[in-house]
Amino acid sequence: MSNPIVEVKNLTKRFGDFTAVDNISFEIQEGETLGLLGPNGAGKTTTIHMLLGLITPTNGTIRLFGLDLEQHRETILRQINFSSTYISMPFSLTVEENLRVMAKLYGLSDVSQRIDEVIKTFEMHDIRKKLTRKLSTGQMTRLTLAKAVMTEPRVLFLDEPTASLDPDIAYKIKAFLKEYRNTSGLSMMYTSHNMQEMEEMSDRIIFLQRGKIVAVGTVEEIVERFGQRTLEDVFLKLAREE
Ligand SMILES: Nc1ncnc2c1ncn2[C@@H]1O[C@H](COP(=O)(O)OP(=O)(O)OP(=O)(O)O)[C@@H](O)[C@H]1O
Ligand SMILES: [Mg+2]
Repeated sequence: MSNPIVEVKNLTKRFGDFTAVDNISFEIQEGETLGLLGPNGAGKTTTIHMLLGLITPTNGTIRLFGLDLEQHRETILRQINFSSTYISMPFSLTVEENLRVMAKLYGLSDVSQRIDEVIKTFEMHDIRKKLTRKLSTGQMTRLTLAKAVMTEPRVLFLDEPTASLDPDIAYKIKAFLKEYRNTSGLSMMYTSHNMQEMEEMSDRIIFLQRGKIVAVGTVEEIVERFGQRTLEDVFLKLAREE
């Protein structure tokens, strides 16, 4: 039985006369990971930012948990979270202080316990008291993920979560996310420019190009529909078609 957690209808975002996201519709089912794939500038981050309520759509509707985002903003935002390698956060706070701020913003009750848990999960003991601006890229990524996971979201939006990570940490992060998803029933929206990672993480993929959906389906379905061997082949074929 289908049980959509996210429902997007006719979503459009224009910046001036430039259309970044062009009339897209899709759903994410409970427990599903939907991969958003597409070349640079395709509209992936813009789509995610609209789903997070960070920017206002020009047109269309967004529903999460059966509620309209515009009308039930606070209820919805409490139950979702976001992580990106390109996120910015208070750099003059320590790792632990940053986690504490996030916990307070979300009104968590067992703050110290949750902080200890994510510090353990993401192996951050040695950087707990370190200033955020002194973190390496990989350490920063772990912190942004820890902040997102700490609030126990029902939907997690991950915009290039493994970009600029070394292969060992990237592997650990993906393993953690898969395990976490399997045990919590979490739904995710995921972007990456690494095709192998998209195949590995996504139950289904939406292919965006110049703001439009040009393909939807499982990796196998998309590969077959375009008569290619791999997702990378499909990507190259679509990206080179003008
Ligand atoms: N605030 C803004 N004002 C004007 N144009 C914008 C704004 N934000 C995004 N755009 C434009 O919208 C388009 C889509 O950008 P977006 O960041 O969503 O792409 P993306 O698919 O995430 O790309 P990438 O793979 O490079 O991260 C781009 O052409 C970008 O320049
Ligand atoms: Mg982007």
